[in-house]
Amino acid sequence: MTANKRPSKYESKKVFISGGSAGMGKGFALAFAKLGADVIVSARGKKALERTVRELRAVGAPNAKLDFVVTDVSDSREVKNAAKKALKILGGLDLLICNSGYAKTGTVIETEESDFRSLMDVNYFGHVNVVKAFQEHFISQGSGEIVLLSSMLATFSIYGYGAYAASKFAITGFAQSLRQEMMMHNVRVKLFLPPTTDTPGLEKENLDKPALSKEVEMGSSLNATHSVDTVVRAFLKWLPKRSFVGYASWDSWLQYFVVRHFPELALLIADGELKSAKKRLDKRAKA
Ligand SMILES: NC(=O)c1ccc[n+]([C@@H]2O[C@H](COP(=O)([O-])OP(=O)(O)OC[C@H]3O[C@@H](n4cnc5c(N)ncnc54)[C@H](OP(=O)(O)O)[C@@H]3O)[C@@H](O)[C@H]2O)c1
Repeated sequence: MTANKRPSKYESKKVFISGGSAGMGKGFALAFAKLGADVIVSARGKKALERTVRELRAVGAPNAKLDFVVTDVSDSREVKNAAKKALKILGGLDLLICNSGYAKTGTVIETEESDFRSLMDVNYFGHVNVVKAFQEHFISQGSGEIVLLSSMLATFSIYGYGAYAASKFAITGFAQSLRQEMMMHNVRVKLFLPPTTDTPGLEKENLDKPALSKEVEMGSSLNATHSVDTVVRAFLKWLPKRSFVGYASWDSWLQYFVVRHFPELALLIADGELKSAKKRLDKRAKA
């Protein structure tokens, strides 16, 4: 850091990000590295992790610890070993961001049981495994922050998202209880609900998304696709605040407001959007 630059509050903070090799996770990693933090990213693919760490080193502080650990979050034993390695490299941990996850869409009738289970294994148990692997560290340290990423689809689920939304709703229940448990140890737990965001994950999700779900999203007044930069900026603004739940955009705020205060109205709006989307699809099929 140069003498005239104000030090950031994240300088030398120790950060671990699961799913940090792509999309939002990588965006968070780059942002914290730029702010002078020590950052460890984890994921399954080693090559993408190596690439990410090279990018982190290009923007991070010269003496920062910037590294990766390979792990599949759905395997609790692997995660425990990865956490041990990360704690050793970093010499502790101040901020844990549980970000890993994926989406698979489809109607309930067409979605295989194996997909329901796999989404729970990665999205829900993945977060449980990562939290449990670091929990004792946070308790003995008596400070720190844990952020769990879920989704706006954890506030309200729509056509084609039954399996995915369930795995994200589960995170909310877990996070609320964990918040109280860790509060007793002076550790803050927060829940971030990203909106639809332009990432490699979204690109993959769109490949086999039901046409009706796609059409609903395109015509929805409560949905827009946001850039990783926008989401990362909103995340950094929200992180120091007291609020437990964080969202990134005006459409998220509006959706959260309507769903919380007018749940029946939210259903009516969603049903209206679904019916209009179906009409548009039918009209196009006839043309
Ligand atoms: N993009 C959106 O529109 C959106 C909206 C709401 C919520 N979210 C949620 O936000 C988070 C980030 O989404 P994204 O779109 O940025 O995802 P992404 O672009 O697909 O990146 C996902 C990251 O997670 C890692 N990952 C996936 N499965 C894993 C596993 N089993 N074990 C360990 N790491 C794993 C990936 O690396 P490897 O594949 O190499 O493991 C990658 O680093 C996810 O939890 C997602 O569900 C996304």
